[in-house]
Amino acid sequence: MERIGLVGLGRMGTAIGERLLAAGLPLVVWNRTPGRAEALVTAGATLAPSLPELAATCTVVLTILTDDAAIQAVYNPVDGLLAADVSGRLFVEMSTVRTNTIQRLGQTLAARGAALVDAPLSGSLVPARQGQLLALVGGTAQDVARVQPILGTFCRRVAHLGPTGSGTTMKLVLNLPMAIYWQGLAEALALGSQFGLELAPMLELIVDSQAAIGALRPKIPAMLGEPGEVAFDVTGVRKDLLAMIETGQSLGVPMPAASAALINCMAATAAGKGQADFAELIPYYIAAVRAATKR
Ligand SMILES: NC(=O)c1ccc[n+]([C@@H]2O[C@H](COP(=O)([O-])OP(=O)(O)OC[C@H]3O[C@@H](n4cnc5c(N)ncnc54)[C@H](OP(=O)(O)O)[C@@H]3O)[C@@H](O)[C@H]2O)c1
Repeated sequence: MERIGLVGLGRMGTAIGERLLAAGLPLVVWNRTPGRAEALVTAGATLAPSLPELAATCTVVLTILTDDAAIQAVYNPVDGLLAADVSGRLFVEMSTVRTNTIQRLGQTLAARGAALVDAPLSGSLVPARQGQLLALVGGTAQDVARVQPILGTFCRRVAHLGPTGSGTTMKLVLNLPMAIYWQGLAEALALGSQFGLELAPMLELIVDSQAAIGALRPKIPAMLGEPGEVAFDVTGVRKDLLAMIETGQSLGVPMPAASAALINCMAATAAGKGQADFAELIPYYIAAVRAATKR
């Protein structure tokens, strides 16, 4: 049986760890902030004393981290995962980051006799807890087959798209129209608000029309200012947009719509909304327009 390591016990990592333990899989965990490992350790996971020790004792290592810089930190060769002898290990990187970051990591691991599958995830905390995520996967057929039963404990579907980097590219493809949708929605609702229409009935009508996307309805309470769990914050959308724009431009694709969405994320972050649920981008934009046009 594979011995599984899980690094990055944030919102998604903790939900994934719970699924792995519930499936009866042996699990070794590590997190930069050790206190965040407590829930999984209480549920039966073993806490690794360091990243090299986790890499030395686990055959398959899953990582789910904030961004490209976090990947560099966790896979560093001094006191990170690559300080261990990793030959024969299979790493599964599930963060949403730039395609280049994943391709470079794949080359570094291959030079050390290890393999990489990129498997960024579509779906948020509730689907993660219910085992209903969609994994977008890149790697060799053999490596993907090896991790399929592990991913299957928290994913409803594992879609293999091609070599390493393919899953990450598909994740950017998938998140780009969503990020632009939220910006379009903010502009539309600001237009209605400036005229004098109320936010709640406007949202109710959009949800009841072809202008709705599947992700809209669950986000309406946050848009109306009701308190709730933050599944993905404004900083996260900003990070995703930067990854999309940089990856798109590296392939010769102009990204004007993504750049426009990024400007609103930057402004909202600068206004102190970085840790807020990304749905708050909409009321933030409406309020900013109102303040800017006040006489
Ligand atoms: N939340 C969602 O709905 C969702 C859905 C699909 C995909 N994703 C993607 O999944 C990834 C994780 O998201 P999340 O919501 O779970 O984020 P999160 O709750 O903020 O957790 C981020 C994790 O990364 C770790 N980390 C950050 N910088 C690090 C560094 N320099 N060195 C070591 N560890 C570092 C954090 O450690 P600390 O605890 O020490 O800060 C934490 O474990 C992101 O790429 C996100 O885009 C998220």
